[in-house]
Amino acid sequence: MLSHRIRTFIAAVIYVVFAIPCQAKDPITLMAHSTGPGQWVGHYAEPLNEQDLKPFVGQYLLTGQWPKGVNRPDDPKLLLGRQKLGATRVVAVKVEEGGHLVRLTTDPVVSPEVHQLTIGDVTLAVAFWGLSVKIGVVDQPDHGPKMVLPMLMDRKKLAEYAGFEPALKAVESAWIDPKQPLMMHGWLRLAEGEHELTFLSGREFTLEINGEKTGSKAAGGRYFASLKLESAGTEMELKVVLPATELPISETDFWEVTKPARKGSAASSQVLSMENFLVPWAPEAAPEATLAIAPPPYDLTGGDGVKGRQVFYSEAAKCANCHAVDGQGGKIGPDLTGLRGADRSLVFHHINAPSDRIHPGYPSFSVALKGGQVSMGVVRSVDALNLEIVDTDAKVLKVSSADVEELRPSTSSVMPSGLAGTLGEPAMRDLLEFLTVKPK
Ligand code: HEC
Repeated sequence: MLSHRIRTFIAAVIYVVFAIPCQAKDPITLMAHSTGPGQWVGHYAEPLNEQDLKPFVGQYLLTGQWPKGVNRPDDPKLLLGRQKLGATRVVAVKVEEGGHLVRLTTDPVVSPEVHQLTIGDVTLAVAFWGLSVKIGVVDQPDHGPKMVLPMLMDRKKLAEYAGFEPALKAVESAWIDPKQPLMMHGWLRLAEGEHELTFLSGREFTLEINGEKTGSKAAGGRYFASLKLESAGTEMELKVVLPATELPISETDFWEVTKPARKGSAASSQVLSMENFLVPWAPEAAPEATLAIAPPPYDLTGGDGVKGRQVFYSEAAKCANCHAVDGQGGKIGPDLTGLRGADRSLVFHHINAPSDRIHPGYPSFSVALKGGQVSMGVVRSVDALNLEIVDTDAKVLKVSSADVEELRPSTSSVMPSGLAGTLGEPAMRDLLEFLTVKPK
């Protein structure tokens, strides 16, 4: 479910708030949108004060390492790459275009709560929510351009942000030009209980909530669908399909969701808050809780730990190129000494299907360089200006951070898959004995 969402949808809306606790200044508020899972771009009309954001400027904060010479690397507050915004890991922050643009790179999976992190004098608060938008063929999720619709219910805001970003401009013109089909997708989260919602649009639409379809009705030159929803308090999948039509829509007509106004209010309805719309890849629960592991294909007990040690350090298995046990071995992946006492079937699963649960301290990235080259691997900062990319063969590529065009989190582990099959049953049993049992 989760990976399906990650694969299928690439865009949403977030707000990024840089609140600088300095009396003379007001907090800086950035609104940003996502251009893909884990990729967020914030725009700011006034240039950000580079001095305040100095720890961020032009720096990639990678896998727990703060670039040398920027700040005390032993200060845990500064290790943004190791810190999390709630369940979401921020791995890079970059300020571009003279302070007008902030790029945030996070885990591909974001958690929907608002999170805060203080680094030096700057507090970073991020809320991830919104709807993704796709223009073009609506039934083929991987076809055609996909983009974000920021401030879904705010026509003016969309126009403002469309000025910053050509892709948003495309969404805006697709909205105004009804000859273009549009699909909006996201997750709706309402408090437990019964809700009455009205969806309004300048264009005819079909609504799909948790798989149930409702068509829109025309009234007063607009289209609407009113429905009663019983919410369990968890997320409901929401799809809004706006097929192509020849009918023009008015410039002022936009998409809106309303609920009945509170008692005592003069208005009859109020707009549903943006916070009720979650990014498509927001997890329903903590990511750990959603994954089940397959039972191992054979009995994992009864191996020989001494032989297992040989397997671990062998050329065939290559484990020690990347992992250490008792201080001996590579540092590309986590130290495996801590696996003693661990559940064998879980360790087997890690070896057999590494991308299923990627260790949060070792996210992998696809790194696009300015020359067009793309590399995949664990990314580490050597110093303020240089990065190392370690690939699945444990080969190290050194690049200057100035040459990095884009850093994109990947859902594949750097650890090669299929090692369990290559090693075979007896060697795997020995290896598991070595990894999970403390030698006498
Ligand atoms: C090219 C480097 C590389 C090789 C070779 C490699 N691994 Fe890994 N391994 C990693 C990385 C990076 C991670 C962390 C990311 C992840 O969880 O997939 C990892 C994760 C793991 C984990 C999960 C640890 C945890 O705490 O979540 C286990 C267990 C593991 N490797 C065992 C092995 C064994 C056994 C071998 C040899 C048969 C091996 N690895 C070969 C890079 C490698």
